[in-house]
Amino acid sequence: MEIGTGKSYAKIILIGEHAVVYGEPAIALPVKSIGLSARVAPLPDGRQEVTSAFFTGDLNAGQLTNFAGIAMLIRRLLVFFDASKQGFHLTITSALPSERGMGSSAATAVAVVRAFYDAFQTPLTRTALLNWADISEKALHGNPSGLDAATASAEKPQWFVRGKSLRSIMMPRNGVLLIADTGIAGQTKVAVDLVAQKLKQAPKVYRPLITDIGTAVRQAALALAQDDIITLGQLLNRDQSDLAALGVSSPELDRLINVAIDHGAYGAKLTGSGMGGCMIALAAEDQAPTIIQALKAANAVKVWEYHFETK
Ligand code: MEV
Repeated sequence: MEIGTGKSYAKIILIGEHAVVYGEPAIALPVKSIGLSARVAPLPDGRQEVTSAFFTGDLNAGQLTNFAGIAMLIRRLLVFFDASKQGFHLTITSALPSERGMGSSAATAVAVVRAFYDAFQTPLTRTALLNWADISEKALHGNPSGLDAATASAEKPQWFVRGKSLRSIMMPRNGVLLIADTGIAGQTKVAVDLVAQKLKQAPKVYRPLITDIGTAVRQAALALAQDDIITLGQLLNRDQSDLAALGVSSPELDRLINVAIDHGAYGAKLTGSGMGGCMIALAAEDQAPTIIQALKAANAVKVWEYHFETK
């Protein structure tokens, strides 16, 4: 084993979360200005330790919920490399807030897998990377679509259909996406389980919402192809009302979403699993400063600006 490194990015789901779990498409963006890196270095005395912004400890003693999936992933990686007794220190350095819908668990898995493959000097395909990330994502969320890891490992915005399609998609030539954090933790497993429960209990009520989200995502792809940011904004609003009807919005998210719309955003919605976490607002460049100020005044704990890459 050599020293190995790996990186990944925060992800923002532009449109299609939750429905993506049930086979509908989604569009998501890697946010390269918010990154995560992993560095693994061999230890001669056999200790296996992980330190990071989210969890610290001995690989075999990790009990925190977030840590369990990553610990399992690392154990399986070591078996794969025939190095179960190998001592190492893994450091994870992250600019991503945890449990805010920005994909911190998937980004951690992606960077960790890349770091171990680098340490064992083994080429890694994208498919293998996503299969590995699925191990810890499953442990944490139960039924992950794979969208988070696919986006955290990408360099460009992605069109994603579970198990079927993963490709880059063009973004608008102008406009800006504002990302605002409610400061409230939102756990993906809780939100995904809630939607599953509702679909089971009242499929006639909730299934059409899933289908409508899928339709909105397909229309959003068309709006993107036509560089029609106004229609895109309207589709984000439609997606938000479907997500709210599914029960995964929250008063804090609704408040920030309404503030963004009231201050001129084309559209706004929660991003990620919801029930807390972050919202996004699509806005004209010259409107952005007013909206940012209003979001901060409405108690957003942090606001990021995401400028679309057009190449
Ligand atoms: C979570 O970031 C996105 C969800 O659609 C779950 C998933 O795709 O696995 C809510």
